[in-house]
Amino acid sequence: MASPVTLYGEQEIQARIEELAAEIARSLPEDFLILGLLKGSFVFIADLARALYRHGRRPEIEFIRLSSYGLEKTSAGDVHLLGDCPTDLSGRNILLMDDIADTGRSLAYARAMLEQRDVEKLWTCVLLDKPSRREVEVPVDFVGFTIEDLFVAGYGIDYAEQHRVLPHIVVVD
Ligand code: IMP
Ligand code: MG
Repeated sequence: MASPVTLYGEQEIQARIEELAAEIARSLPEDFLILGLLKGSFVFIADLARALYRHGRRPEIEFIRLSSYGLEKTSAGDVHLLGDCPTDLSGRNILLMDDIADTGRSLAYARAMLEQRDVEKLWTCVLLDKPSRREVEVPVDFVGFTIEDLFVAGYGIDYAEQHRVLPHIVVVD
């Protein structure tokens, strides 16, 4: 088996996260809460949160877990909530974060859920955006990298639970 092709190296990711943090710090109000979608976003959030701190921000962090791809490369389509966060989100400014916007179903599901919980304002941030794969219209406010229709892993993102530990992002064929 050929070794996987690196799409974004460690330094390239870190440099982009520093820019994203600056952009978010400029655009969001003083008080906001990061709501991450598990599991794929955990490394991205760890790095972005610390970059935000360098830009003078100290957001709270919560997570929810949605249904995932399992062992497949394509989503089954029906998103549901596997694990909720215990915090009352009403009246809060929320930065919703995920690893990848693909069909858009996960983000659309999370957004709809948050709107029902009377959040004050909602922004969305993903590390990778695959606009050509979109099936559901969903606004994405902050994007690390826009990519083609490639299946990727690494930097918290898995393929069948493998590769999350990689510090860089690879293309899985
Ligand atoms: P969506 O609901 O179709 O937008 O899919 C979002 C979720 O699918 C992401 O949070 C990822 O966990 C997963 N996903 C989408 N594309 C990839 C990929 O290329 N590699 C690994 N997981 C992916
Ligand atoms: Mg995911």
